[in-house]
Amino acid sequence: MRPRKIKTGIYCVGAIDWDRRLFDALIPLPDGTSYNSYLIKGKEKTALVDTVDPTMTGVLLDNLDSLGIKKLDYLISNHAEPDHSGSIPPVLAKYPEARLVCSKLCRGLLIDRWMVPEEKFQTVEDKATLPLGGRTLEFISTPWVHWPETMSTYLREEKILFSCDFFGSHVATTDMYAGDQPYVYEAAKRYYAEIMMPYRKTIEKNLEKIKDFAVTIIAPSHGPLYDRPELIVDAYRSWVSDKPRNTVVIPYTSMHGSTRRMVAYLLDALVKKGVTVQQFDLAVTDIGKLAIALVDAATIVVGTPTVLAGPHPNVVEAAFLANALRPKLRFASIIGSYGWGGRTVEIISGMIPNLKVEVLDPVLCKGFPKEADFLALDKLAEKIAKKHRENGFA
Ligand code: FEO
Repeated sequence: MRPRKIKTGIYCVGAIDWDRRLFDALIPLPDGTSYNSYLIKGKEKTALVDTVDPTMTGVLLDNLDSLGIKKLDYLISNHAEPDHSGSIPPVLAKYPEARLVCSKLCRGLLIDRWMVPEEKFQTVEDKATLPLGGRTLEFISTPWVHWPETMSTYLREEKILFSCDFFGSHVATTDMYAGDQPYVYEAAKRYYAEIMMPYRKTIEKNLEKIKDFAVTIIAPSHGPLYDRPELIVDAYRSWVSDKPRNTVVIPYTSMHGSTRRMVAYLLDALVKKGVTVQQFDLAVTDIGKLAIALVDAATIVVGTPTVLAGPHPNVVEAAFLANALRPKLRFASIIGSYGWGGRTVEIISGMIPNLKVEVLDPVLCKGFPKEADFLALDKLAEKIAKKHRENGFA
């Protein structure tokens, strides 16, 4: 896409990736993504904030050409992950006079990954400023969104926060601004769930930190910009808060129908007690949808058959993911079936040390569920609903 003007002398010059469907060989991108890069012209100096994925270098360089950029004074690297740093080498080759401005930690990572010569760097600390002539950049350390080195760049005069992954969303769109469109909210929540959630306590501190800055536009490195910053900032505040909702998430797999029957029964029992339930068949689900559900849920109930003496591998993957994402879950349980034995409960319980949850009695049935199993599921639903009420989630 051609450059788009944000303000006089400030442009989006990055690339939209309509076709990408997977990130990190793991994360589904149902709606594509974008790699945002921003050009800022001062009266004396010109800066580029972040670059684009190496697969899209040509788009960025063409955009800089189309704006007649012959000299670049500063290349700001907010974050070293290759989707933003991958075009640093070709940009430095095209504009050899540019200083590469980044945090100290970022410098090391860029040298490790891209072998950037040490003399190209100008490292900056938190709160350092860089005058461009009539425009001033201020650097704000915003670590763990989702790497340790990340900073945001604030353009003082126009009050624009270039926040890199912070507030980003994987969505390809020609809309420059998010407005209040629900699809952007969903994409931003998916993005938060998949990569930010494990660092929610640090993100809470970063939200406090940016409160000190008047911001009229948030310009992240993925997805549309926010010209009503309070919408995305308020959404982040609710996602990082400690209080979950009256929701149970049930990721499950069923091989011959027994576990599926138990999941359906438990869902009905919970709904009857006023609890919202989201169930995910792990054989077919988009794991991003499961991650989104984990952002707010109070309880997770894993459903699995017993196979090879333990949980189904799909469930092992989901348990690993939930443990790694560290959602604010407060309760957990396991339901499922077995033929003659196994160590399902023991194995899953050992896989979730990061979840600070109270484990409620599991319900495992032999073969197909029978009356006693359904009664046990009723008791589990009653216990979950009671726990939610007692903790003020319902
Ligand atoms: Fe979009 Fe962490 O890179």
